Amino acid sequence: MPQRHTITAALLYANGPVHIGHLAGVYIPADIYARYLRLKGEEVLFVSGSDEHGVPITIRAEAEGITPQQVVDKYHQQIKTSFEELGISFDIYARTSSPVHHQTSSDFFKTLYDQGAFVEKEEEQYFDPEKERFLADRYIVGTCPNCGYEHAYGDQCERCGTSLSPKELGNPRSMLSGATPKLKPSKQWYLPLDKYQQEWIDTWIDEKAKQWKPNVYGQCKSWLNAGLQPRAMTRDLDWGVPVPLPNAEGKVLYVWFDAPIGYISATKEYFIEKARAEGKPDDAYATAWKPYWQHNDTALTHFIGKDNIVFHCIIFPAMLKAHGGYILPTQVPANEFMNLEGDKISTSRNWAVWLHEYLRDFPNKQDVLRYTLAANMPETKDNDFTWKDFQSKNNSELVAILGNFVNRAVVLTHKYFEGKVPPCHQLEAADQALIAELQAAPERIGQAIEAYRFREALSLLMDVARAGNKYFQDTAPWVLYKQDPEGNRTRIETILHIGLQLCANLAALAEPFLPFTAAKLREMLNAPQWSQANPQWQELGNIDLLLVGAPLAEASLLFEKIEDEAIQVQVDRLEGIKQARSLETAQAPSLAPLQAEIVFDDFAKIDLRVGTIVAAEKVKKTKKLLQLTVDTGIDQRTVVSGIAEHYSPEEVIGQQVCLVANLAPRELKGIPSQGMILMAEDAEGKLVFVSPQRLVNNGAGVK
Ligand code: 2FM
Ligand code: ZN
Repeated sequence: MPQRHTITAALLYANGPVHIGHLAGVYIPADIYARYLRLKGEEVLFVSGSDEHGVPITIRAEAEGITPQQVVDKYHQQIKTSFEELGISFDIYARTSSPVHHQTSSDFFKTLYDQGAFVEKEEEQYFDPEKERFLADRYIVGTCPNCGYEHAYGDQCERCGTSLSPKELGNPRSMLSGATPKLKPSKQWYLPLDKYQQEWIDTWIDEKAKQWKPNVYGQCKSWLNAGLQPRAMTRDLDWGVPVPLPNAEGKVLYVWFDAPIGYISATKEYFIEKARAEGKPDDAYATAWKPYWQHNDTALTHFIGKDNIVFHCIIFPAMLKAHGGYILPTQVPANEFMNLEGDKISTSRNWAVWLHEYLRDFPNKQDVLRYTLAANMPETKDNDFTWKDFQSKNNSELVAILGNFVNRAVVLTHKYFEGKVPPCHQLEAADQALIAELQAAPERIGQAIEAYRFREALSLLMDVARAGNKYFQDTAPWVLYKQDPEGNRTRIETILHIGLQLCANLAALAEPFLPFTAAKLREMLNAPQWSQANPQWQELGNIDLLLVGAPLAEASLLFEKIEDEAIQVQVDRLEGIKQARSLETAQAPSLAPLQAEIVFDDFAKIDLRVGTIVAAEKVKKTKKLLQLTVDTGIDQRTVVSGIAEHYSPEEVIGQQVCLVANLAPRELKGIPSQGMILMAEDAEGKLVFVSPQRLVNNGAGVK
């Protein structure tokens, strides 16, 4: 057995809120595991935090029109709070913009550099000639070589899902300026993964064949079979940890270099916070992080989603080994993905159940979400979350099985024995069978958790409650009471004694999965008066937790039924998003790429005015053109406009419009046209007038 456990949960990009896909894939399993090990009395440090660097952050900043720092400040706090509210029991939720992290990752890079671990290479990279900066893959759009989609990103085509490199795109354009990017050489520092593969990675991964989950091992093998390539550990970007070398201005550490080091800096921050909480100087525990990362008797477990496998199983271990002195991951129990109502969860398409919204819409129902996500955890294949299933898991399992059993035990004890734990007398076969099942439960559940089979573990937990319900059904203490309350007293006492002991065990066994319910149940069963107020996992499974005669608290419902209306609200919300999206998709192909940037002076040259169409007629022998007379307040002029397929002449007379009033006249079908009317195109391709919201004077300027 290891002496201690370092448990990490992927550092989430602080560029948007947490959704159920993150929870089911990473944070719920990690939390169950950490809570379970703590209950076993193991030494555990459970770390996570915000990944605050890289292009995902800068793209979000541009989308929201704020700075990258403002993006991470906003989302870090929001994410941290919603994790806390869901009861994810991190020992620390750190952030990679912290000075401790900058120092740690910078030092790590410097050590590798000083040891000569990096290969320096100059490579041609896309450069935006107008913005005068190198472009990250995500900042380049162009035509997908696979499906022809014209807005594919430099790293991936969102339409067909193909992974791309920017040089594969046809007609590449900079997302920042619209300009055609130029190739320009740039120096980067590469980790020679190809060399490490030969030296040790192949052998090391082979040793994991039987230890790691098949999906994780399989993905590693496919990377290795394809042959690892040197990988750049630096990037030309202005957001991140600066490369700590001379002549490296404008370069930062690759986000996948600094992010996993974030686990180490989070561990350091944990001990700084501990020192502060104890009123000691920050460096009181300056070396306490080391055993968690450098001692061989530590088990290092990374909880991640499948898209992070290569980084945690190959690249981060390569960095740790190259540095020296670090342990390598013991386990990487990566999960597959959780879908939502049959469709891939997507932040950009708003196709998600957001945790902060869930917590708002379903207050005090944290465990219902935890339960549903754990029961459907995508352990071996992608899985689907549906609101109907969520409702059914609550109503038919949590309410009907666990809640019902506990309620029966506590209510009957109040009714028959003034709410005090009754004594146990002679055991019958049904009692012994139930006790045997209870005795076996902790080990069975524990084994499943230790093998990262969280769904099975949860199902075994529910089996205990199921067995309790069956026990009550078979022994029917309420029937015995009705028949002869005094004559059957000892039997009823025994049944409720055993039933209550089962409840107390459930309170402890449920803690890793359903911490809020466990706490409520402990309160109801008056845990401070148990034979041991906080039994360890190994001590569970017996019927001596509750002391005979100890008073219980009032009975209250552990779970409440969720009605159809509450579910319908959520289903309708998703339906609304779907409809809005299909409208957008219909529009998307006709969206023209951004024009090249102009300066304000260019814009100021355009004289935009409001005018009113006072006369209109079709231009003969054309389908598209209307000849309009527009009162501009300054003059009445002729404008030929290509709107005849969308409007009849009668329809447009009296319409107020915006027009480019100083456009040089040009002839259309022999008619001199003086200006251009502004039109927008709707989803169906129909042209609609861009006009003031209410009538204004003709000739008014448009700014
Ligand atoms: O995929 C992601 O969300 C990454 N931010 C995960 C980083 S995990 C670790 F390396 F920090
Ligand atoms: Zn494509």
